[in-house]
Amino acid sequence: MKKIVTVEATPNIAVVKYWGKRDESLILPTNSSISMTVDSLKTRTSVMFDPSLKKDEFWLNGKKVDLDKNPEAKERLKQLEVIRKRARITHHARIVSINGFPTAAGFASSASGLAALAVAASKAAGLKLDTKQLSILARLGSGSASRSVMGGFVEWQKGEKADGSDSHAIQLANHQHWPQMRLVSAVVNAGKKKLSSRAGMKQTIATSALYRARLEHHLPKVVPEMRRAIAHKDFATFADITMRESNSLHSVMADTWPPIHYMNDASREIVALVHELNEKAGHTIAAYTFDAGPNAHIYTLAQNVDKVKRMLKQVKAVKKVVVSKPGPGPVELTKPTDHLIDPETGRVRKHSFNEKRQEIIVRR
Ligand code: PMV
Repeated sequence: MKKIVTVEATPNIAVVKYWGKRDESLILPTNSSISMTVDSLKTRTSVMFDPSLKKDEFWLNGKKVDLDKNPEAKERLKQLEVIRKRARITHHARIVSINGFPTAAGFASSASGLAALAVAASKAAGLKLDTKQLSILARLGSGSASRSVMGGFVEWQKGEKADGSDSHAIQLANHQHWPQMRLVSAVVNAGKKKLSSRAGMKQTIATSALYRARLEHHLPKVVPEMRRAIAHKDFATFADITMRESNSLHSVMADTWPPIHYMNDASREIVALVHELNEKAGHTIAAYTFDAGPNAHIYTLAQNVDKVKRMLKQVKAVKKVVVSKPGPGPVELTKPTDHLIDPETGRVRKHSFNEKRQEIIVRR
């Protein structure tokens, strides 16, 4: 029997955004960020370390990725080296990962994928790591992944140290803290993004003067305010900061040279409609936020989800809407039939995502 560890993790959507690194290689951010981990859009990852493997192997959505020809994927998997060193093993790993949502839908899967990998790979190597250590591992592949190793509301503290040992996430409140909270995500463009967030943020730091103002004057104020809003379940303040934060981020992107525009006309139409909805309601019932793409993420409370959905129906470009709740963070699947790798043979099992049933199917 081979030792296989399988974990499912989910993405997070930031309400105080991370944009800019002080260390490119260790992925150390210039500012702390805050997000909510969602309960949907799961990535399932199985990991096996095996002495018979000649090199690391990575399968994504049923296809083997050639790591020699894909330096970006290789770079994202660099936590494997750290895990091997810590566990004092030299074996290579077989990693099999599948997204439980359509890959082309425009949902970022790096956070869920790299968080699932950190939890599964460290355990498969025999390590028992706490969430802080897991957050540091996930961070090495993608900054925002450092926040997906925990559920509920999470802060990635930027840290000060050059080795990154104090740059990790902490949980502000678990997924049961604010049960009415919902995230309505609207896919407006299923295309692959033009400029990676990695390249985009580097360009911003190098060229934007507005970015300095964001870093020095805006963020130090909103981080503690957002912590308080979450602790007191103060939706109006939460929503206000979330929208202003997203606007601040996209302003520094526009101030970057050459300018970066991830939002499109449909995104801007949604911004206007959310403000209209709030005005009609007489108070703030919905808050938009946008990442490095045109898709809208709208935070609202359970009783207002239908209103938000009706509002999104007016936007022609909206292709798909997904409603999420606060999620518990990564979960290990221990049923042998859930593994994407056969524990008897160590081979990759046939697996796929059934969109109709919204389910990952694994064949034995
Ligand atoms: O972790 P990355 O490189 O995908 O960067 C994520 C950056 C934003 O999504 C735009 C903001 C954030 O904090 O998630």
